[in-house]
Amino acid sequence: MQQKIDALLKEIEQLSVTKAEEIEALRIKYLSKKGEITVLFNDFRNVPAEQKREVGQLLNNLKVAATDKINALKESFENSADVNDKEDLTRTAYPVALGTRHPLSIVKNEICAIFARLGFTIAEGPEIEDDWHVFSSLNFADDHPARDMQDTFFIQRNPDVLLRTHTSSVQSRVMENSQPPIRIICPGRVYRNEAISYRAHCFFHQVEALYVDKNVSFADLKQALLYFAKEMFGADTKIRLRPSYFPFTEPSAEMDISCNLCGGKGCPFCKHTGWVEILGCGMVDPNVLEACGIDSKEYSGYALGMGIERITNLKYQVKDLRLFSENDIRFLEQFKSAH
Ligand code: DAH
Repeated sequence: MQQKIDALLKEIEQLSVTKAEEIEALRIKYLSKKGEITVLFNDFRNVPAEQKREVGQLLNNLKVAATDKINALKESFENSADVNDKEDLTRTAYPVALGTRHPLSIVKNEICAIFARLGFTIAEGPEIEDDWHVFSSLNFADDHPARDMQDTFFIQRNPDVLLRTHTSSVQSRVMENSQPPIRIICPGRVYRNEAISYRAHCFFHQVEALYVDKNVSFADLKQALLYFAKEMFGADTKIRLRPSYFPFTEPSAEMDISCNLCGGKGCPFCKHTGWVEILGCGMVDPNVLEACGIDSKEYSGYALGMGIERITNLKYQVKDLRLFSENDIRFLEQFKSAH
């Protein structure tokens, strides 16, 4: 009996398997009702009384060893099975999720691309400006309301430092530093002292365009505007110009486009007029040309400026301006398919 126990113990210690099913076969072989170890237990009654204590202990050890071994085999197998099932090393990699462009960047890029096709190049200027470039050089009278603290963030009086209220300041900087022909488009952020609401913010974005050369006429301006409107909002888009006033242009106009939501029929968005205003424009005032060192007898030019938020609202029907600066991923992710 003891020899048999010893032999079985050695055998069990050396057990190994290659498949999960083999483990169950081993359990049956040793531990089931007719298993080899169970049979030994059944024979135990034939062991002479004086050996029962010693043999009983050996038998128990054998059973524990066999159970442990089989459990250990099962465990090692489960672990390795785990690895094989979950890590398929032949699987193609998950695609890397790309971020999305901000809707204002998408629209800004589109505006710049349209004007680039007309030969305009991008010019940029500082957001922290001085009175000369934002107001004086652009023919603003000393008592113009835009010079009021209520509209403009003044940072310092002397020397004067302020946040630009429009990208027209880039016009004067470029004209000061270069001679015609000038054909530039200036995208950028501007600041105004406004209470924040769904329709106004203390900062927003504009694009300014300036063309100065010999014999630039209002007809050139109108043609560029029509081209822009059709490229931006679709070939069926109509434009209309309404007389307006800006200190830096003479004559000045505001441009409406046929409402791109209702196609000009009238809807709540266009207040049932069929038209929506999108930009200001005009012929550069000779005073501005002269202030910036350009001979107004030789050259003329046109300028226009528009709010990027406004164009974006028109294109994507964003109803609350604040969404643009809140960085809410649920809002931004909606522009995944745009570029
Ligand atoms: N600077 C004007 C604004 O902030 C927009 C503008 C109007 C720009 C007419 C122009 C222009 O260049 O000609 O509202």
